[in-house]
Amino acid sequence: VSRTKIPEGLRPLPGPKPLPLIGNVLELGSNPHLSLTTMSKRYGPVFQVQIGTRPVAVLGGIEVVRQALIKQGEEFAGRPDLYSFRFISGGKSLAFSSDQVGVWRTRRKLAHNALRSFATIKGQTAEYSCALEEHISKEGLYLIERLHSVMEVDGGFDPFRHIVVSVANVICGMCFGRRYSHDDDELVNLVNMSDEFNQVAGSGNPADFIPFLRLLPSTTMKKFLEINERFNVFMHKIVKEHYDTYDKDNIRDITDSLIDHCEDRKLDENSNIQVSDEKIVGIVNDLFGAGFDTISTALSWSVVYLVAYPEIQERLHKELKEKVGMDRMPSLEDKTNLIYLEAFIMEIFRHSSFLPFTIPHCTTKSTSLNGYFIPKDTCVFINQWQINHDPEIWKEPSSFNPDRFLSADGTELNKMEAEKVMIFGLGKRRCVGEIIGRSEVFLFLAILIQRLKFSPMPGQMPDMTPEYGLTMKHKRCLLRSKPWPGFETPLK
Ligand code: HEM
Repeated sequence: VSRTKIPEGLRPLPGPKPLPLIGNVLELGSNPHLSLTTMSKRYGPVFQVQIGTRPVAVLGGIEVVRQALIKQGEEFAGRPDLYSFRFISGGKSLAFSSDQVGVWRTRRKLAHNALRSFATIKGQTAEYSCALEEHISKEGLYLIERLHSVMEVDGGFDPFRHIVVSVANVICGMCFGRRYSHDDDELVNLVNMSDEFNQVAGSGNPADFIPFLRLLPSTTMKKFLEINERFNVFMHKIVKEHYDTYDKDNIRDITDSLIDHCEDRKLDENSNIQVSDEKIVGIVNDLFGAGFDTISTALSWSVVYLVAYPEIQERLHKELKEKVGMDRMPSLEDKTNLIYLEAFIMEIFRHSSFLPFTIPHCTTKSTSLNGYFIPKDTCVFINQWQINHDPEIWKEPSSFNPDRFLSADGTELNKMEAEKVMIFGLGKRRCVGEIIGRSEVFLFLAILIQRLKFSPMPGQMPDMTPEYGLTMKHKRCLLRSKPWPGFETPLK
């Protein structure tokens, strides 16, 4: 129970009555994005639940979320010190740790700059507008080849398994200057293990709030620790190789550029070193980790939706044939022309809301919202799923309909509608990889949809019930693909 005195004129947050010790854990259940949306109908767009003995403010209306994350951005920009976050990147993650404001801000700026420079530098040949486009195009073709050969041997494939390797290779290219083969067990196993990570790191994991639960044996928690350990070993090895071969006159990738930053500021007499080398070079862990799972999840959902809505798949392919043709690959520049694809992607983001909550936030000082008092250090959940399914903002929110993002005559993307979709967060903690994320989802999909037609295995429609977590996945499934007419010839 909070003992903080509530300033005059403000009210305490409304919310359900908590039980002793466990608080509202039972009401939260196994799909917190749904249960908290239901509670919001009763208590309003900002309310409180208690998880264990810890109060959590839940924000679920577009206005109140904009007010908190943009207008009162400083006050809501913290991260709570949650049990599971201590194990992510040894507690030194940029995204999950409760770094002081100054340290976090410095690291975030470095992450931004590193991503910007290594995504936009020139590709190896003039054929590509930038390195990012080159990485995606090449990985897209490898992926198609891979799906061809798996189809020949097995007659079906697990979409996530193969997509995640291609997506990981794009971020590997930028972070480490290398790619891995689809047969490389080290990478393939690492990137295919994210399920338990997502379950434990999802908002509202009871063990984050209720200490005695950590004493109970849990296979999910054991796997979570194992995944973090394997991830750290993998990253450590690559970073060490970079230190061993570092040459300040030849900065090869993001890892080199972060090492270079550490070296530079040691020579600078005026530099006020407040962030350790480990925390600077460790940024690459966040970029790699955040860079493969989110995008692969988006793409894997997209392929499953294509299968579930064959008429939408036909229309997308037709748009590609008309706007790009069959003689060249799609490029990032086609983004403004392929508006039905853009609308499809927005609808995937909205309808699946595969990142149902942002990473939890925390108040950096006592504040108020909608006339309610919120004390310093309160954990805050931002319910993106609720905003994306709010019947006040969306017509028939539960139906999957890309056309909702097009102008009435179908020739333009309705930007006002598109901006209401919330999947990258907002304000100071907004995703730093948003541009890369959007570009990758777009270009990978354009490449796949131009050449391949996806379908279910006979009698096996994929199960589209999301599994709750930090990122929500569809159940693993088997799908088929075959080239569209005109694309049967092998790739160059
Ligand atoms: C944070 C979504 C791709 C790097 C976040 C957050 C969300 C998000 C919801 C949390 C925002 C908050 O706490 O308020 C997504 C989606 C992606 C994507 C939907 C793809 C479709 C990427 C990529 C990268 C990246 C490609 C890097 C290459 C990060 C980092 C943070 C973050 C470093 C932590 C920011 C901070 O705590 O200050 N992302 N992301 N993300 N994302 Fe992304």
